[in-house]
Amino acid sequence: MTITQDSSAPLIVVVGITGNQGGSVVNALAESSKPYRIRGLTRDVNKPAAQEFAAKGVEVVAVSLTSDNATGAREAFNGADITFVVTNYWEHLDVNREVAEVKMLIDQAKTVGVKLFIWSGLESIIKVSKGKYPNVHHFNGKGEITEYGRHSGIPFVNVQSGWYASNFAKLDGMKPKKQADGSFVLALPVGPQTLLPVLDTPHDYGLFVQEAIESPEFGAGSEVLTSGEDITVGDMVSQLAEITGKKITFARIGDEEFLAATGLPRSVALEVLESLKYHEEWGYYAGKTTDASRRHLARPTRTWADFVKSTNWSSILA
Ligand SMILES: NC(=O)c1ccc[n+]([C@@H]2O[C@H](COP(=O)([O-])OP(=O)(O)OC[C@H]3O[C@@H](n4cnc5c(N)ncnc54)[C@H](OP(=O)(O)O)[C@@H]3O)[C@@H](O)[C@H]2O)c1
Repeated sequence: MTITQDSSAPLIVVVGITGNQGGSVVNALAESSKPYRIRGLTRDVNKPAAQEFAAKGVEVVAVSLTSDNATGAREAFNGADITFVVTNYWEHLDVNREVAEVKMLIDQAKTVGVKLFIWSGLESIIKVSKGKYPNVHHFNGKGEITEYGRHSGIPFVNVQSGWYASNFAKLDGMKPKKQADGSFVLALPVGPQTLLPVLDTPHDYGLFVQEAIESPEFGAGSEVLTSGEDITVGDMVSQLAEITGKKITFARIGDEEFLAATGLPRSVALEVLESLKYHEEWGYYAGKTTDASRRHLARPTRTWADFVKSTNWSSILA
């Protein structure tokens, strides 16, 4: 554990320490051989995750990073050498809010002289697909933010998050579903050859942020594409079956069937549907490979099989 209070060490301000990505960033930096001061932001310092980090030497600060709170953001970023910013689109489903909040954070980080702004962005699917898939707002908004950050003048790195491995264990539309004969089917509106950069996010996302900070190959202007393993959905299902010992097969289903199976409001389900179809046609990272981004990690990432082995599937495959 190398979290230090020594003022000669760089101060990293991490948004979302109680979440998957922010928590992973703090853990990776704490395990680095380099010393860091870490300030972690949350709206609720009493959350167990916030308290645990405070006990490990993180300066935990309460702030709500809404676009009308530029003063709070400026104070939270004050003195930072580096900031890490993630949003939680799924909490409000409002792309305009997401974009406005991060633009404000970029502006405030610039005002206080942050030397590196690390952003958890995604591709603009509407742009890459030339308008074919217009409804994936959680990607499109992040793409717009990336453009803004790149032109803002602040040193800016985009560390895109891969596909959360946990989606297949947590999301109703993606979990394997029990059939009348006792077997399971994992059904998606895409073919089994669809390739995904699967990431055990809480375990490994932070390694890539650490790499962006510490590796000379990255840094200002660069892009880091995170992935524990690039693997097809068909292979994921085969490995899940083999490791758990359950009969699980993959099935391609129609769009309407998938929309209904998600259990989500139609507009939200449409985001998920279009994102999957985009991944099949263009690739999650729009055809860019993840090899270079995996080259200088401090330790190996978990593969899909590692994730399956470390997950309790008993209630999901009951
Ligand atoms: N599922 C996927 O496959 C996937 C793939 C790539 C990217 N993503 C993206 O990942 C993002 C979610 O990241 P995550 O998994 O780390 O989320 P998470 O686990 O839900 O955590 C969100 C964090 O953001 C903080 N936060 C939210 N609103 C805030 C506000 N107004 N002020 C201050 N802090 C705030 C929360 O802090 P407190 O609650 O403690 O205040 C929490 O720590 C989404 O935008 C999603 O689009 C998901």
